[in-house]
Parts: sequence; C-alpha cells; structure tokens
Amino acid sequence: MLPQALRMAGRSALPLLRCADRWADVIACAASRQVKTLEQMPGPSSGGFIWDLLFRRGLSRLHQLQLEGRRRYGAVWKASFGPILTVHVAEPELIEQVLRQEGTHPMRSDLSSWKDYRRLRGEGYGLLTAEGEEWQSVRSLLGKHMLRPKAVEAYDGPLNAVVTDLIHKLKLRSQQSSSGLVTDISAEFYRFGLEGISSVLFESRIGCLDPVVPVETERFIQSINTMFVMTLLTMAMPRWLHRLLPKPWDTFCRCWDYMFQFAKGHIDQRLEEERQKMARGERLEGRYLTYFLSQAGVPLKSVYSNVTELLLAGVDTISGTLSWSLYELSRHPEVQTALRDEVRHVMKDRSVPEARDVAAMPLMKAVIKEILRLYPVIPANARVITDRDITVGGYLIPKNTLITLCHYATSRDPRQFCDPDEFVPQRWLSRSEGSHPYASVPFGVGKRSCVGRRIAELELYLALSRILMHFNVEPAEDSGPVRPMTRTLLVPERQINLRFIER
Ligand code: HEM
Repeated sequence: MLPQALRMAGRSALPLLRCADRWADVIACAASRQVKTLEQMPGPSSGGFIWDLLFRRGLSRLHQLQLEGRRRYGAVWKASFGPILTVHVAEPELIEQVLRQEGTHPMRSDLSSWKDYRRLRGEGYGLLTAEGEEWQSVRSLLGKHMLRPKAVEAYDGPLNAVVTDLIHKLKLRSQQSSSGLVTDISAEFYRFGLEGISSVLFESRIGCLDPVVPVETERFIQSINTMFVMTLLTMAMPRWLHRLLPKPWDTFCRCWDYMFQFAKGHIDQRLEEERQKMARGERLEGRYLTYFLSQAGVPLKSVYSNVTELLLAGVDTISGTLSWSLYELSRHPEVQTALRDEVRHVMKDRSVPEARDVAAMPLMKAVIKEILRLYPVIPANARVITDRDITVGGYLIPKNTLITLCHYATSRDPRQFCDPDEFVPQRWLSRSEGSHPYASVPFGVGKRSCVGRRIAELELYLALSRILMHFNVEPAEDSGPVRPMTRTLLVPERQINLRFIER
C-alpha cells in the first residue's frame, strides 16, 4: 500500500519510495522466517504412524493418539494416514483459527471412501457428503426444519411416543432378571435412536422397539456399525490396495448398499401413501422431514441420499450419548438423585415432559454437556480449506490440506478443565470454569455444524428425564470401568451392563 501511494505522489518521492520498498522486503523476509512450512512441522514418520495404526490397535486408539501427539509434538503436528497427509491441531485457540477461516461452503473432509462409494454406485450425496452449492441448498432447507426452536418443539410428540416404548422395553428387560440387570444397553439405545430419527423423518413407526425386532432393522444397525469400522480402514488403504485386499472395501460397499436399500424402501412407502391420499382428494399436511424434502422439489435421488445419511447420523450418536450418560449417572448416584429431583420439580404431577420443560432443567443440560466433553461422539473432526493457504500456529498450511481438529485432546486438557477425566457436570453451572469456548464443541461450530443438534438434544433430554422418573440406575455388580474406543465415532470399548430398579 505505502509504496503504491508514494508512486502516485510522483518523482519527488523517489528516495522515500526506495526506502519503503526496502522496508517491505525486510518485513516480508521476517514474516517468511516466522511462518514455518509444512516440511518443518513435527510429526511421526509415516512408517511409525502406520505401525501404530495397524499393529498397536491404533485405529481404535486414534483418540488416545491425539493425547500422545500433543505430548510429543505440541499443538500442531502432521501425520500420514495411509495415502493422506493430515495436519493435527490440538489447541482450542488454533481450532478456532481454522474454523474462522473455513469460507462460505466449508468442506469437512474428503471422506474419500464415502464419496468413492457414491461415485461408484451412482448414488447422490446427502448433507454429510455434499459440497458447495449442492450442500448449501439442502442445508438451508433442512436447517429451517431442524434447527429453529419452534420447528424442533413440534417433534416432542413423536419422540415422546418412542420414549414410551423405550421405557416399556426397559421394564420388560429388567423384569427378566432378579437384580434388574439389562445387559448391553447400547444395543437397546441403537434401536431407540433409529426409531427416534425414523419418527422425525417419516412420522411413522418402524418397529425397532417391538418385542420382536424386524430383521431388516437389525441388519441396518449392523450395517452402520460395520460401515464405521471399515471407514477408517478403507481411507487408510491406498486405492490400489483395494484390488489386492478386497475384503474391507467390498464389506464397506455391501453395508452402504443395504443402508440405501433400507432408506429407499421406507421413503418409497411413505411417498406412495401420500400419493394415495392425494388421489382420494385428502389434504396433505405432513410434518416430517422426508415430506419437507420432497415437497421442496429436491430430486428423488437426493432425497434418498439425504434420508440415508440422516438415519445413519441419528443412531450411534444418540445411542452412545445415552449409554455414557447412564453409565456415569450409575457411578455418581448423588448426581443422579439431584437430576431426578430437578426433573420431578419441573414436572410436578405430570408424567411426560415436553420440549418447553427443558428450559427449566439446567442440570440436565449440564449433564449432557459434560458427557459430550468426556465422550465426544466425533472425537476428531476435520476441515479442508480449498480456496487459499492459511496460517495456523505459525505454520503455513497449503490449501486442500486435510486438517484434523483434535476435539478429544482439547476436551480432556487439564489446562482447560480441572480433573479433566472426571464426570463433574456442575462445572457447566458455574461461570468459574473459564475454559476456552472451543475447548469442547461436540456438535461443531459454524455453518457446517451438526444440523441434528436440536433434535438430538431434545431426544436425549426427553429420554433421560423419563428413565430417571421410572428407574434408579445402578452399575452391574461385577462391572469395572468401561473405556471409550474409536470406531470412526467414539463408542464404548465393551458392553455396558446396568441395573434398572423400578421406582
Ligand atoms: C449427540 C448427538 C450428536 C452429536 C454429538 C453430533 C455431532 C456432530 C458433529 C460434530 C458434526 C460435524 C460438525 C462439523 O463438521 O462442524 C455433525 C454433523 C452432522 N450431524 Fe450430528 N451429531 C449428533 C446427532 C445428530 C442427529 C440426531 C442427526 C440427525 C437428525 C445428526 C445429523 C448430522 C448431519 C446431517 C451432519 C452434517 C451437517 C452438514 O454437513 O451440514 N446429528 N454432527
């Protein structure tokens, strides 16, 4: 700027101009000395990282590797995940820096194997995988029906009906054991999650909580589980290796085939019902997401892919968070009692909470926040900045680099949270905690953050309130601690078994 202005001032400014040019050179030189390059960034050797991944159970310990990485290399380091070079960022201030530079159409990651599958089979992209304008148009539409408080409140009826069935199922199962034992609670909550998201997507029930669970439902849930296991593996394998070792890729594709088939079956059935209604001259007034998508003129291929991805997003996330919540509450009876008191105080003599009741339940919100701090469903998120190089933590990161945001590391950082491995929901009730706002962001931040957040929170609050009104939840007698493991998402390493004692 300065040299330009001086040039415009004419010849008399020449000596000054030379001086300013020299200064500009000096500043550029100093800046380039300060900003380091990707080559200068520390990190494990490619061989070492692959060794960790394949032979030290690294894929299931990826969240732990975030802590190890930060200890060894500091806030920013690089590692090669198979064919992909990724920069890890493990400091809240730096995560904020990345997210503030993400641009108008943020890209989460290449999610290469998910996108490869869609290209191979000619399927469309849903909100999780779409990019650019395609993503923006569906995001705006779904945001209206999934994030606005008034729109979300309308789902409390269908969700409560699903919670009623869950309570019934938990009663049946706990009565089958003299001690009220329910084994593998996550399996029950997978079905609850799927039934819940289906009620929001189709405004109809699909029988996941029936005494006999339909085989297609079990197969769908199994497909999600296996697909998540295979996601990291297929991404870590270079494409040419898929031909040599075809099993992971084939299994991955079979899971997606079934998930698309399952979703298409339900969508076609629901849209056919609407067509018949219309033929009979009845008024259409659906309040479910599939209806909103199809009415807004979204092409059918895109309705299929969006509904498939929403179904998938609503299962493990809800199941994991509910399982960890009850696991921690069973081990902290004083918090459980305080939470139950809060719910009963708000409910007075009513038995079914509504969306608006939650506003008066600060401890409930704090419990879920704390659970998601300790067990963030997505332990590492990512961004790819496509339009320019950015500087993060003193390093120049070239555009199109995959940047891994190490949320597990920041949310368990003792500099951010005292006793970071302890379940202390009260920390969210006082303002004294003083953690950085980006230290625990389980739903992400900004334009590409979780579109299901409000529905997920409502579902969790409604389920937890009613479970606590009906049961005292206690640990199983022989139960030791359960740790998390990574399976793309963060899940319990082994079954969680709890005793549900009817009140
Ligand atoms: C405890 C529950 C949940 C957690 C912790 C969670 C977390 C997240 C996170 C971290 C992201 C990525 C955000 C980013 O990149 O900045 C995300 C994206 C997303 N979530 Fe959730 N989620 C939950 C439940 C749900 C549910 C129930 C649904 C469906 C109703 C859902 C649908 C989605 C979708 C479609 C996206 C992609 C959004 C986009 O790219 O525009 N999530 N979620």
